[in-house]
Parts: sequence; structure tokens; C-alpha cells
Amino acid sequence: MITLPNSETFNGRENILEILRKNQENIKHGKGQNIALVGQRNIGKTSILKKIDGIYIDLEKLSLSPESFSMEILEKVARLYGKKVKDLKNETVSLIINELEKIKPDQVKLLGWAFDFLESHDKVLVIDEFHKVLDFNNFGQIKDILSLLKERKWKQNLVVASSAESDMKKIAKKLDMTVVEVSGLDRESVKELIEQYIKIGEKEVDKIYSLTQGIPLYVVALCKRYKELKSVEKAFVYEIVSEEGIIHNALKFNLTESLGRARGQSLLMSVMKTLAQNDNLRLTDISSKIYRSGPVTKSIVDRLVQVDIISKENKLFSIAPVLKYFIYQVYVMGNDITELNKLAREVFK
Ligand SMILES: Nc1ncnc2c1ncn2[C@@H]1O[C@H](COP(=O)(O)OP(=O)(O)OP(=O)(O)O)[C@@H](O)[C@H]1O
Ligand SMILES: [Mg+2]
Repeated sequence: MITLPNSETFNGRENILEILRKNQENIKHGKGQNIALVGQRNIGKTSILKKIDGIYIDLEKLSLSPESFSMEILEKVARLYGKKVKDLKNETVSLIINELEKIKPDQVKLLGWAFDFLESHDKVLVIDEFHKVLDFNNFGQIKDILSLLKERKWKQNLVVASSAESDMKKIAKKLDMTVVEVSGLDRESVKELIEQYIKIGEKEVDKIYSLTQGIPLYVVALCKRYKELKSVEKAFVYEIVSEEGIIHNALKFNLTESLGRARGQSLLMSVMKTLAQNDNLRLTDISSKIYRSGPVTKSIVDRLVQVDIISKENKLFSIAPVLKYFIYQVYVMGNDITELNKLAREVFK
């Protein structure tokens, strides 16, 4: 069931909550679907998942070896009910515990039982950062986790989320999940969110909406910084270039994480910097700017698209606006907070 937004600062998302609500209704009539919320980092996927009255699991926080995973699932559910694992009177629990005592546990069985156990509680299974299931492929006995999941007879429907957009869309296709894209908040919701922190006029609201693309984390960060700096432009620049900035740190994390997933070479960052300085480049433009051949450039650029840190449309490559500004100011120009006033004057130029 979807509970009404209760946290004080949760705004908007009516459409998505309605889709989830309808799906819960359909499930009762045996017509529900597995749903995948897909969207960039910090866009607000977890916040939506937390509105669902289900069993919430974040794969980024669990150990993803079949043995540890199954045990951690038992511990997690036990905690949920204020019990100890040994007090969970359940057949599947005994199966898992017995299997783990063997010298070479059957990893496929363990995973199957862990999911059976999760589904035995009559609650929607809510799984965050779902693309991490692919990590199970690193284990000898598993081989192809998606085929295993596809063969499963799900008793309860799943609602999952992932920030690895490209990977998740492929997974969703294979597992017949309905993809729901999560994008920035609309202007009305941004305005409501802002009003929970500061009092400003419509023109300033427009500025925040345009600078943040409606990404709630950025909106909140700007509002908090606005309280001390009393200027949207200054707050934005501070948030981007200062190492104290919430946006700075969020983007730094995204960049490091994505480049890590794309399996780093210094050339990845060269491409990022090139795109931070030029809009909509073709492969040939990038290739000449990083002094590499077409095929080498293509392989780098493809990996960056694969981890969603750059996007490709009609053969043109580009970076999302806030990330672009961040890479340009911090990595290309090497600017820091000493440039606050100057940069603030240039934000809307
Ligand atoms: N609808 C909303 N209204 C107000 N604040 C929100 C909303 N959605 C998200 N936020 C805030 O934005 C921040 C990031 O949200 P959240 O963690 O849900 O994003 P996410 O998409 O799950 O990010 P990640 O990809 O890093 O897991 C949180 O601090 C949250 O409080
Ligand atoms: Mg999240």
C-alpha cells in the first residue's frame, strides 16, 4: 500500500504514487506488474520507495554473495519484527541455516529461499539499487542471475529502483518489468519544497527551478545555502565549487562512482572535460580533442553512455547541465570558493 506522503519535506510525485497505488489495486485482482523506477542519482527514487508499505531492501547495503545475502536477509526481517533469527519459526529459515552449515552451500538454492522468505510476509517487496543483482553473476554457481530471476514464480509483486539507468532498462526488459521514469520535480512542487525552507519571490523560484532542473536534493541544498548568502546565484556557485557544498559532494560521488563503473582510464575524464566545455559534440569532434583515434574514442564514449554519465542523442554527446557546470568550474577551470562573487555574476549570462 502507498501511504500518504508523511515526511514534512516530501513534495510532488503524485503521478508516480498514483501508478504505484493503481498497481497495488491490480495486484489484488491478479493483474499487477513488477515496476522499476529508473532515474539519475539524487532524483528522489528512494524517497518514493519509502512511501510504500512493504519490505524495503537496499542492495547497495547488503553483501552480495549468495551466502551472506541470504543470512543478512534473515537478520533484516528478524529485526523488522523485533526478533532474533533463531526465533523465526519458518521452514525456509531452517533450510537456509542448514544449507549455510554445509561445506559447499548451494548458492542457487540459497538465493531462491532468500526470495521465498522475503515473499512469505504478504508485503510488497521493495528493492533499491536493483541493478546490483548483477553482482551475483560473479559467483560460480549462479552464472546468469537474470535467467534465475526470470524463472522465479513471484508470489508478490516487486517494486524496484535503480540509478544505473541503462543497466536497469535492460534488466527490466528481460524481467518484463514496467519502467517508470523518475525525473525532476515540476515547478509547482519545487516551489512548495522551497517554501518549506525560505521565503522568496517568484523570480527567485524560477531561477532555482531552472538551475536545479527540479532535482530535489539540489533544491534543498540551494535553499539552505541561500539562508546565509541571500542570493540564488551565490548559493548555486557556492554549492558547486565549495568542498562543503552538498551538490559538490553529491556530484563528486556520482562522477567517481560512474567513472569507476566505466572502468577508469584518465581518458574518461578527458572526455568529460571536453564535453564540459562544448555542447553537443560528435564523435569525430571528441576524438580530435582528446587526440585519440575514432575507434578508441568510441569505446570510451560508449562506456560513459553505458554508465549514464553522458547522454547521446542524434549522434551528439552531452552532459546534464548541473554536472557540466560542476566539471567545468571545478575540474576545467580549477575554481574554488574564492571566485564566488565573480562566478555568481556570470551564472545567468
Ligand atoms: N519528492 C521530494 N520532495 C522533497 N525532497 C525530496 C523528494 N525526493 C527526494 N528528496 C530529497 O532529495 C534527496 C535525495 O533523494 P533520494 O535519496 O530519494 O534520491 P535517489 O534517487 O534515491 O538517489 P540515489 O540514486 O543516490 O539513490 C533526499 O535528501 C530527499 O530527502
Ligand atoms: Mg536511492
